[in-house]
Formats: sequence, C-alpha cells, structure tokens
Amino acid sequence: MPAASPLPAPEAGARIVRVDLAGRPYDIAIGAGLLSGIGARIAALRPGARVAVVTDRNVAERHLATVETSLREAGIAASNVIVAPGEKTKSYAGLEQVTEGLIAARVERRDLVLALGGGVVGDLAGFAASVVRRGIDVVQAPTSLLAQVDSSVGGKTGINSPQGKNLVGAFHQPVLVVADTAALDTLPARELRSGYAEVAKYGLLGDEALFSWLESKGREVISGGEARAEAVAASCMAKAAVVARDEKETGDRALLNLGHTFGHALEAGAGFSDRLLHGEAVSIGMCLAFAYSARQGLCSGQDAVRAARHLEAMGLPTRIADVPGDLPDTDGLMTLIAQDKKVSRGALTFILVHGIGKAFIAKDVDAASVRDFLEQARAA
Ligand code: GLY
Repeated sequence: MPAASPLPAPEAGARIVRVDLAGRPYDIAIGAGLLSGIGARIAALRPGARVAVVTDRNVAERHLATVETSLREAGIAASNVIVAPGEKTKSYAGLEQVTEGLIAARVERRDLVLALGGGVVGDLAGFAASVVRRGIDVVQAPTSLLAQVDSSVGGKTGINSPQGKNLVGAFHQPVLVVADTAALDTLPARELRSGYAEVAKYGLLGDEALFSWLESKGREVISGGEARAEAVAASCMAKAAVVARDEKETGDRALLNLGHTFGHALEAGAGFSDRLLHGEAVSIGMCLAFAYSARQGLCSGQDAVRAARHLEAMGLPTRIADVPGDLPDTDGLMTLIAQDKKVSRGALTFILVHGIGKAFIAKDVDAASVRDFLEQARAA
C-alpha cells in the first residue's frame, strides 16, 4: 500500500480519486486505456454538451483519433484546436490561437474544453477556457506523468510572460480529470523520469510510507502496469487533499513547492532549455532543500542522504554539478531565487523539512545562509 490513506480500488479499470472542493467536487479517473472511454464519461457528466479538444501536434498524432472516436461513439459533437508542442506555446500568442480557435468553433458556455496533452496544453487550454465567454468548463486529459500527478489537478492554469513563467493565469478547476496511464508508454524515458520527481515529491513532503514504497517500486512505476497506476492515484490523492483544504495557496498548498524555489532558479539559469527538464530541476531542488535543512539542524543528514539516494537510483540528477553546461554564479542564482514568486516582501520563503514526509513552510529564511550553502553545494 503506497499511501498513508488506502487507495481507491479499481472499478471497471479505473481508480477514482475525488477532489472535494466545496460545491465544486470533481473526479480524477486513473487507469490504463481510459482515453478510449472518455466520450462515455463526458456524456454522463454533461449530457448534450459539445467538446472542443485542445491538443498539440505530437499528442494529436498519438491520441487524437482515439479521443475523437470515443466522443463520436458517445454522440458528442467535437471540434479541435491543435497547437505547436513545447513551452513556447504557453504564451500570449498561444493563448490567442486557442481562444480564437474556440470562438471560431462556436463553443458556448454549456460546452466543454478538453485539454489533451502535457502540462503546457493543460495550462494553456485551462486558461483559455477560463476566459472565453467568461468561462467554459474544462476536462483535463493529461498525457505526461508530470501532468497526471501535478498540473492537471488543482486548477492552476496560465501562460508565461516575457518577464517570467506562469505569471499570467487563473484558478480554473476542471470538472473531470481522465489520466490514462497507458498514454505514458510512448513517452521518452527521460521525460517519464522527470515526471517521477513530482511523484517522489509527495512522499518526501508528506508521506513517509509512500516514499518507502517508491524506494522498492520506483522502477515498476516507470515501466508501467499496476504500480504506475497506484503511484498516480497516490499522488493525486495527496494533491487532492492539499487542494481541498487550500485551493488558492494561502497556506498549506505551498508545501507542493518543495524543491521548486531552488529548482526554478536552476531551470532559469539553464535557460528553461532541454539541458534541465522541470522535474530534473525539482529533483535537484528537493535534494538541496533536504541538505539545507540538515545543515540548519532541522532534519537528520541520514534523511537527506536517503532522499538523494533514491532520486539518483531513479536516474534523476541530484546535484547542481549534474546540470550540463554553464550556470550563473552563486550571486546570479541568488538573484533568480529572489525573483521567484515564493518571495514575499523580500523575505525568502522556502519549503524545508524535519525529515522524510515532514515538510513545512519556513518564512524569513536568512538569505546569507542560503548563499553560503549554495556556494558549497555548487562544489559538491
Ligand atoms: N504545482 C503546485 C500546485 O499545483 O500548487
């Protein structure tokens, strides 16, 4: 059993995790092959609604025909908007393409947007749905591990500004999430491993039992099958619980940012390029958060070593030196950390740990001690 709370048993091939938002609860259906039945789920949820599928060219090649067939078989009229793959699409231009595409398809308020793809498509389509006709409901169908365990759940949507990532957006909760774990079979191994960092994050931040389970089953999660579906379900349960108690990130939801402050600085330092994928940056960031916590006497050095050992065993980078190519110097990294949105009125806010599964929000973290730590961590 991976999670502290029992996982939902699969019924008709799907595990259902409920996100219990007051007045707006929604289900996350998790299982292999669910895209071929997505039409029936949508028809049951919203009889008579039309569906506009937003996806990218790569995902369209692999999954659009399956989804369109399923929608047709369920009697649902569908249209689609296909964008270019990649982070650059999460832009004002990408938003214009999607919103204009939805308007041209005559999508109405009672219709649905179906975001079919990874985190870029989910964030972009979700944000477009939140503004077209002052808000259309969205169904998320995430096709990357990262999107299945993180970005498709919880309602954060948006685009990047030239001044920074995710700076323009809205909370727009989906009405349904359909995570087809077999869709991950065609992903490059590096992308899967990168998504795995976000799975490990849930164990590291709040569930020691989940982390122990991952230590023995991590490889099976990557290779597919039941362990993968269990890991996605455990991750979604963890995220659903946090989102249900703090939807707009006024408190506890910030715990989900474990590893992200250091990680975002490294990602930005590497130019948001293929040199360092998001999950890889989070992996290094989590190791830094554990090592910094140990150095401050907040957690044991053994826990820091244990966290890093597992991530390394899963093929993830764990040290700053693992980032290929040049990075800004320590002061440059500190500037990037200070620009991060988790900085409130100049004080550094970090997610630190008292041990595996024991993350907490640390406000007023001393910048000089972080700089000193980073200087040493770069050489490690
Ligand atoms: N990815 C962090 C959050 O959804 O809050």
